[in-house]
Amino acid sequence: MNDNMLGVKECLEFYISAGVDVTCGNVSGVYLNSPPEEKIETQKTKIPYTAAVAGVESVKAATALCQNAASIQELKKIVENFEGCALKYNAKNTVIGDGNPNAKIMFIGEAPGAEEDMVGKAFVGKSGQLLNKILAAIGLDRDHCYICNILPWRPPGNRAPSDAEIAVCLPFLKKQIEIVRPDYIFTLGAVAANSLLQMSETVSKLRGKWMEYTADDGRNIKVMVGYHPAYLLRTPAQKAKMWADILRLKSEIEKNN
Ligand code: URA
Repeated sequence: MNDNMLGVKECLEFYISAGVDVTCGNVSGVYLNSPPEEKIETQKTKIPYTAAVAGVESVKAATALCQNAASIQELKKIVENFEGCALKYNAKNTVIGDGNPNAKIMFIGEAPGAEEDMVGKAFVGKSGQLLNKILAAIGLDRDHCYICNILPWRPPGNRAPSDAEIAVCLPFLKKQIEIVRPDYIFTLGAVAANSLLQMSETVSKLRGKWMEYTADDGRNIKVMVGYHPAYLLRTPAQKAKMWADILRLKSEIEKNN
């Protein structure tokens, strides 16, 4: 083993100690030159080549596949069978929305965490417990809203999703919005806000005012950007701002009732 190899070993040990539990994502030239049916070995499973190099074609495929889904159950089956995103091959479950698919209020987070991946349900871990409390504070529970994520699969080790992964999964979120037809969307965290609104801003810049999202069917939906519950657990001092934002949602609902 030469010095260079020792560096690789140390690098991998660092990744493992930092919680990275699988290598995937960027594909080296050797794979790019491989025939489409070739499988790429990962620690846990084999990823179809198409998923590993997901790009424009995968976005098109995702959009086309979910076009005819008439219900969240139908959409879930389509997403479970989708092969264009490598995240699926490291996840235990496909996590589509939880709550009421007829709700007027939709909450959108980033991606399932370890507990959500295990159970197959959005926001059931520590972040979900805080979200439940936030909902209860304005008289809501999961029967009054629909709760989902930008990504239906947990990124390994809870790493941040790549732009390509977000792009491939966005058609599934857009279809959920089209099926549920919410009047209000409350995004949780920067990834959810920026992915939905096609922006690149901090939550601090976007929060506190109503914004608008135009759904694929042409409906304009009011959007409030808020902090992610995981961030609030780490930074409780920001809870006051979240409280103000959730009250903005409450008063807008009451105003229009
Ligand atoms: N964080 C998210 O963004 N979504 C979940 O479902 C759980 C944690």
